[in-house]
Amino acid sequence: MTSRVSGACLFISLTAAALCAQSAGNPAEGPGLFRAKCVACHGVQGNGGGGGVDLLQGKFKRPSSDSDILGYIRNGIPGTAMDKVDMPESEARKIVEYIRLRAQSHYANEVTGDAFRGKTVFEGKGGCRRCHSIKGSGSHFGPDLSDIGGSRSPAEIERSIVDPDAEILPQNRIVEVVPRNGKPIVGRQLNQDSFTVQIVDTNDRLLTFERPSLTEVKILMKSPMPSQKGTLSSVEIADVVTYLAALKDRQREASR
Ligand code: HEC
Ligand code: HEC
Repeated sequence: MTSRVSGACLFISLTAAALCAQSAGNPAEGPGLFRAKCVACHGVQGNGGGGGVDLLQGKFKRPSSDSDILGYIRNGIPGTAMDKVDMPESEARKIVEYIRLRAQSHYANEVTGDAFRGKTVFEGKGGCRRCHSIKGSGSHFGPDLSDIGGSRSPAEIERSIVDPDAEILPQNRIVEVVPRNGKPIVGRQLNQDSFTVQIVDTNDRLLTFERPSLTEVKILMKSPMPSQKGTLSSVEIADVVTYLAALKDRQREASR
């Protein structure tokens, strides 16, 4: 396993290494410009203030292509505290490039966690098996994660863990079914056709309902998965992401 380095530069990718060397602080280059023009609002790590926007982690609220970001810098974002920033376009472009590189190294950084420790967190402190199964072991209320590394990037996995509501894939839809004579039941929807609705409930039971026996099937927009932000440390989260990112279904791999 990769050992963990403490300090400002715990990056492994080449671009990021170059960046580290650079971030020593030439005021005419991306990092220096970013510091001079953006950190007052967005914080030193790019994760403070500024509307809570994680600028250096590639997590944007708005569509943020390079030209979009360039536009925000040059024109501001109407109706928000983000005013236009007075600077030549060439400098603004350097900042955009810097933001991109930092976002990449953030993701590269994620997979330098320790998968073994991640497994321990997943099965222990994280309580993930209460809802998820991996290779046949665990519960099924949440989606099976045996192939999560094959279908989702580390960044997406991380986002699912710290911000479960950000995106719920259609195949992971959580519903509340309301039986005509009984209490509402929350579950992950498996199949539905014109006659039946099938769910796995929070007690790992597979339940099938005839449609006429239900008064309602509500799709829940909020994930029942608790965010781990604040519960797990950032190191523990990186470890879990590393563990999950490495899970790939061999059969699927082979058939590719
Ligand atoms: C005066 C404070 C201020 C300064 C200076 C500032 N920003 Fe912002 N910025 C904000 C705020 C506040 C938001 C959030 C707007 C909102 O969504 O409400 C924001 C949003 C953004 C967004 C959109 C992110 C998203 O996900 O929607 C980008 C990109 C951005 N800023 C880049 C920059 C860059 C690059 C600089 C430096 C050149 C900079 N900002 C300087 C206050 C500032
Ligand atoms: C209370 C039940 C519950 C717990 C506990 C839980 N999850 Fe989830 N998780 C879900 C459900 C339901 C979904 C599907 C809806 C969604 O995407 O939020 C999900 C989705 C996910 C996804 C996205 C899956 C995909 O297909 O993209 C990941 C990754 C994930 N969980 C990881 C974890 C990890 C790691 C833990 C432990 C730290 C955990 N979960 C704990 C219920 C749970």
